[in-house]
Order: sequence, then C-alpha cells, then structure tokens
Amino acid sequence: MTEKTRVAVLYGGKSGEHEVSLKSAASVLRHLDRSRFEPVPISIDKQGRWQRQDARRLAESNAESLPIFAEAPEIRLAISGNGTLLAAPVGGAATQDAIDVVFPVIHGPLCEDGAMQGLLDLAGAAYVGSGVMASAIGMHKDMAKRLVALAGLPVAPYTVATKRDYARDPAAVAAAAQAKLALPAFIKPCNMGSSVGVHKVKRWEDLGAALDDAFAYDTRVLIEQGVDAREIEVAVLDGDPPFASMASELNAGPQHEFYSYEAKYLDADGATVDLPAKLTAEQMSRVQELAKTAFTALECSGLARVDFFLDRQGGEFYFNEINTLPGFTAISMYPKMMEASGLPYPALITRLIELALERHAERRALKTDYQG
Ligand SMILES: Nc1ncnc2c1ncn2[C@@H]1O[C@H](COP(=O)(O)OP(=O)(O)O)[C@@H](O)[C@H]1O
Ligand SMILES: [Mg+2]
Repeated sequence: MTEKTRVAVLYGGKSGEHEVSLKSAASVLRHLDRSRFEPVPISIDKQGRWQRQDARRLAESNAESLPIFAEAPEIRLAISGNGTLLAAPVGGAATQDAIDVVFPVIHGPLCEDGAMQGLLDLAGAAYVGSGVMASAIGMHKDMAKRLVALAGLPVAPYTVATKRDYARDPAAVAAAAQAKLALPAFIKPCNMGSSVGVHKVKRWEDLGAALDDAFAYDTRVLIEQGVDAREIEVAVLDGDPPFASMASELNAGPQHEFYSYEAKYLDADGATVDLPAKLTAEQMSRVQELAKTAFTALECSGLARVDFFLDRQGGEFYFNEINTLPGFTAISMYPKMMEASGLPYPALITRLIELALERHAERRALKTDYQG
C-alpha cells in the first residue's frame, strides 16, 4: 500500500472570519478522502496560537464548527534536514508530524491576503489556493479592479480616498466623488469582507458618516457608483484552461437595502439563492468567460469565487470582487456551484490538493540561480 498524503488542515485564524473557518474546516475534515489522505489538523486560536489537534477526537465531536481543544500541544512549523515540512511541538518531546501539503481553510486578513501564503512559501510548503501575489491583490478591492479592468472586464466607476486625504481635506474627497459618480454610492473599506464597514449612501449629506465608519476598518476606502444589480457569482477551479462553474444568483431579501452583514449572517431569511442563476445561455457563458479572465488576470491558483453585478438597466456584467479562499462548508456557494457543475464536494477537495501538489512540484523544478 502506498503511503497516504499527509494534509495539514489549518483552521481558525486571527481574522474576524474565525468562526466561518471552524465551519468550513469541519466540512473539509468530514469529507476528506481517507483512502488517500491522512489529516493533520492544526488550529490557530484567536490569540494566534498554533496547536496540533487530534483528528479522531475532532471526528468524535461531530460538531458543525470544528472545536479547538485548548490542551492540544502547541506547535510551530519547522523544516527537516531533507526539506520536509514538520509540525513540531513547542518544547515537548512529542513526535513531529511530517506534512506533504497544507490546506489553509481560513478566511480574511492574515489568512487569505498573502501573509499566510508567504509564511508557507518560506517553509517550503505545498498549499491549496493562490500564492502571495494573487492572494494579496484578491483581497485589495482597488488593485483587483484595476488589474481586471486592464484585462477588459467592466468595473463600476469609483474613486479612492486614503485616511490621510480625508483627514487633510474631507471636502475635496467628497467633491472628487460627486464629480465622478451618481447616487446611490457604495462606501467600502479596501481590504475587508463580509460587508463589514460597507454603506449605501443615497444623499451626499450622508457621505461623511459612511466614510467615518469605513475608515475605522481600513486606511483606504472606495467610493463606488451604485449599480442596480443582480448579484451573480461564479466558482473557478484551476486547470489548463481554468474551469468556470454554473453561475448562481444571490438575492438579498426586500427588507435589506443590499447584501449587508445583517443579510449575510444575522437574518436567517436575509437572502435567497438561485443555482443556477436565471440567465440566458449567452449571459451564462459571458459571465463564465469573465470569471475565467479575472482568475487568469490576477494569476490565481487553485480556486476563486468571482462576484459580479448584472446591471438591470444596461444588461452589462460588472466585476465586483474575487475571493481566493471563499467560504468552504459543504453548503457554501463555492462548493455548491462546483457540485451543480458536476464536481461533488469530496472530489473537489481531492482535486484542490492535487493542484497544490502539482503547483509546488512545478515551482520546485525551477532553477533558482544561473546555471549557464
Ligand atoms: N457598486 C455597488 N452597487 C450595488 N451594490 C453594491 C455595490 N458595491 C457593493 N454593493 C453591495 O454591498 C455588498 C458588499 O459589497 P462587496 O464589495 O461585495 O464587499 P464584501 O467584500 O464585504 O462582500 C454587495 O454584495 C452588494 O450587495
Ligand atoms: Mg462581496
């Protein structure tokens, strides 16, 4: 029997999306193909402590959110003499775990913005998902829009203000927005998610309060033209060429002005989903093409969910944002869209791990210095 591939399932994390990660990771562990893979669960608690968790004990808990057992041994990443990645217990004599590939089932800042990916690169690890650059750009709403626009994707008009600009001359920030945009406008922190700090402004008098709140979350804020939009999402899986799923549509309930934090997480009836989205065949293939173009333009790897606005007036698709580590429970949009497109959740997990190993091998084979 060949040895199983040892998959470190990283979960938790210090971001605001810690709880989402616990749910995603519970699903991944439950559906990981145990005939090929051996899980090495590694939790990161809210204080940033890394711990080696016991897969059997986690399985027994059978919880919807994967627990973090506080007494589990603390570990750090280490590299053995032959370059193998190790989960090494801190101070203790307990055995070290060799790791073949890391599945970062974590979301948000420091988890999907390139920081963790850089750490894993330094440790020489194979890992699921995008590398440092695509992760960082994917998280940065302004950079992502600039690059996809260069690749030909329509993007709603917007202006950008920094906290310094705003502190120095708030009237100039408002004037620049008013000169370029019509109401309503959406105010959003550049590097957040989950609609945190996002505001819909219908009167310019309300811009200041919206900016004050958005600047509490980031030093860079986008002021964006509101689109009378249907919200369409596509899941993209890496490949040559990349594969785009059936698109889905998210409809925030009429009680919500937009797909806000409340609609996403606090209101059980906050939104309904159409999968597949009710699009014409042409619209479906257009949005799939746009999603693949965005994935390629940002040099993503592994997976990404690409979110669009379909303008009810003009009928055009606008790129809104890309998520390089989207929510990943068995009922999250990314896995559901892949499933509806013929790739069930367990096979999706397997494919993502294979892609991570392929990408790692490809990069390892590159020369690192001049060899004539
Ligand atoms: N330009 C816009 N036009 C219409 N609705 C928008 C616009 N920008 C954001 N929204 C609404 O706000 C939500 C959150 O904005 P988004 O840019 O997706 O940020 P997040 O990363 O927090 O999800 C969107 O899903 C949509 O409902
Ligand atoms: Mg969004």
